Amino acid sequence: MKVGVARETAPGERRVALVPETLAKLQKAGAEILVERGAGLGSHFPDSAYEAAGATVVSTEDLYAQADLIARVQKPSADEAARLRSGQVVVGFLQPLLDPRLAADLAARGVTAISLDAIPRTLSRAQTMDALSSQANVGGYKAVIMAAEAFGRYFPMLTTAAGTAKPANVLVLGIGVAGLQAIATARRLGAVVKAYDVRRETKEQAQSVGAQFIELTSVADATGEGGYARALTPEEQKAQQDELNGHIAQQDVVITTAQVPGRRPPILVTAAAVAGMKPGSVIVDMAASELGGNCELSKAGETVETANGVTILAPTNLPASMPGSASLFYSRNLAALLLTFIKDGALAIDPADEVHASTVITHGGRVVQAATQKLLESAAGSTMGGSPA
Ligand code: NAI
Repeated sequence: MKVGVARETAPGERRVALVPETLAKLQKAGAEILVERGAGLGSHFPDSAYEAAGATVVSTEDLYAQADLIARVQKPSADEAARLRSGQVVVGFLQPLLDPRLAADLAARGVTAISLDAIPRTLSRAQTMDALSSQANVGGYKAVIMAAEAFGRYFPMLTTAAGTAKPANVLVLGIGVAGLQAIATARRLGAVVKAYDVRRETKEQAQSVGAQFIELTSVADATGEGGYARALTPEEQKAQQDELNGHIAQQDVVITTAQVPGRRPPILVTAAAVAGMKPGSVIVDMAASELGGNCELSKAGETVETANGVTILAPTNLPASMPGSASLFYSRNLAALLLTFIKDGALAIDPADEVHASTVITHGGRVVQAATQKLLESAAGSTMGGSPA
């Protein structure tokens, strides 16, 4: 079986799906590795490092012509999808729930699509494959580093001959994987850290990494399905914003990570809350995307300086800004997933395997993953005049 490592082409993407260190595991399972020329350069893995690890460096044309499986980080562009052929497998963050049309196109081409964002995250056997977590971890760390850089003062308390510097006050909103890493990183830098999440079970988790948990009296626990948060009602959201405003005004740095699956991110930091912050304060909105973010004033991919001297950063792909670590962990996740598929040197899908049932999106000319199927059916229903759900 030939596993091909694609060069990422999305703007700003510097990660690579497999790094040289991981290749031995796949080779041992019978895979031969092909690497698209320059695939690892953005993460500082030169072609020679792949060759030293026993891979063959090939042109783009040869990669798509020869590989049985194409490993990538981001979903293929239209041009890359058009290169894929029937019987070939593509693996990456394919985001079938955000882009079900891509899944339908790949199915129509006879391509087998396996998506890393569909890993069943709470299955303990799948934790080594959980690339959403490994990349969120990188993001949470980098968000704090960016905040520290933009903040014009010390994070730690310092006692010097010239007197004492007070430690920075950091608030982390949303205590999932990224939030926990943000808390731990800000603590390591010496900040005083508070944290809040709408899922009450996060209280102990936040405390275990050194944050003081903020309890809001106006909002009840909002734990939803699968360990994620549910969307708040408009009344709950307003009460939450009003109560958070008082806490936000006391912070030097606010890092937001809150997401609700399938919805636009909730606004936790309103324009009024930003107006109440001190000059020199910094917000890093990790939830920012074209859909909006956790801060009403953030602009995805841009830095906003407000009239009252608050800097709002809204990075959209933090893992790509730490491509060495992000690629290494992604690569380990991907190899762990692929090893469950490779039997006797060939790809074998077992529908009874929970990991396979969740991650195989298209196979045999059909969209086979239930959630994606449902989305496509409801989209087809609404195009045919049916009422959307
Ligand atoms: P996420 O990226 O979907 O959201 C980040 C955080 O924002 C979550 O903690 C969520 O509760 C919070 N949030 C959403 N709306 C909010 C609001 N209005 N106000 C305040 N906070 C809000 O979360 P992530 O990091 O993907 O993790 C989601 C869940 O998956 C967590 O329960 C995590 O522990 C769980 N998980 C479990 C794993 C396992 O069992 N091995 C592995 C990875 C994640």
